[in-house]
Amino acid sequence: MQFTVAIDGPAAAGKGTISRALAAHFGFAHLDTGLLYRAVGRRTLDGVPAVIAASTLRISDLSRTDLRTQEVAQAASEVAANPQVRAALVAFQKDFARREGGAVLDGRDIGTVICPEAEAKLFVTASAEIRAHRRWLELTQAGHDADEAQVLADVKARDARDAGRADAPMKQAPDAILLDTSDMSIDAALETALAHVRDRK
Ligand code: C5P
Repeated sequence: MQFTVAIDGPAAAGKGTISRALAAHFGFAHLDTGLLYRAVGRRTLDGVPAVIAASTLRISDLSRTDLRTQEVAQAASEVAANPQVRAALVAFQKDFARREGGAVLDGRDIGTVICPEAEAKLFVTASAEIRAHRRWLELTQAGHDADEAQVLADVKARDARDAGRADAPMKQAPDAILLDTSDMSIDAALETALAHVRDRK
């Protein structure tokens, strides 16, 4: 059985939580595609050219523990604007999406570029202020020193770069349902997402 759930949207909108919950509920595999770009961005900070980092990426690079910082997020969004970097990562994502047993992929271009034929598509968003606040809470609770105004500026810079790039910009696919989590509890957002996927099965 092949069944792909494509989840796109900006940073800290709730994509990760929703994707993991859907994958667990339906027994599907999950790929956080942001990790691919973060792993490439991380290596560029170590001095490796972006296209080389993308074409030599290994699965073990995705489990590096230092991929969640704001610095790596910005580096990821810079390398993600490079069409050669994106091209080097396409095949892995497409294969993952069509694996037997079902898959959930979350990112920016899953429903539009990686998997336009996905059986279920969601575009998960929330206001920049709410997303920055959530990200700031996550960072401080994890023991990082974070300034909320700086996190908001970073979120806005990343949104602008991700939505404004020429190749595979972040956008809602025409057949994706929009889930704005600004004023929603996580349980309500999950229930809506589950109902959508159930309808498509
Ligand atoms: O989702 P996450 O914040 O981990 O993504 C990091 C960066 O990777 C994003 O800001 C975006 O530039 C890039 N990205 C992308 N396409 C994807 C997933 C992530 O361009 N499918």
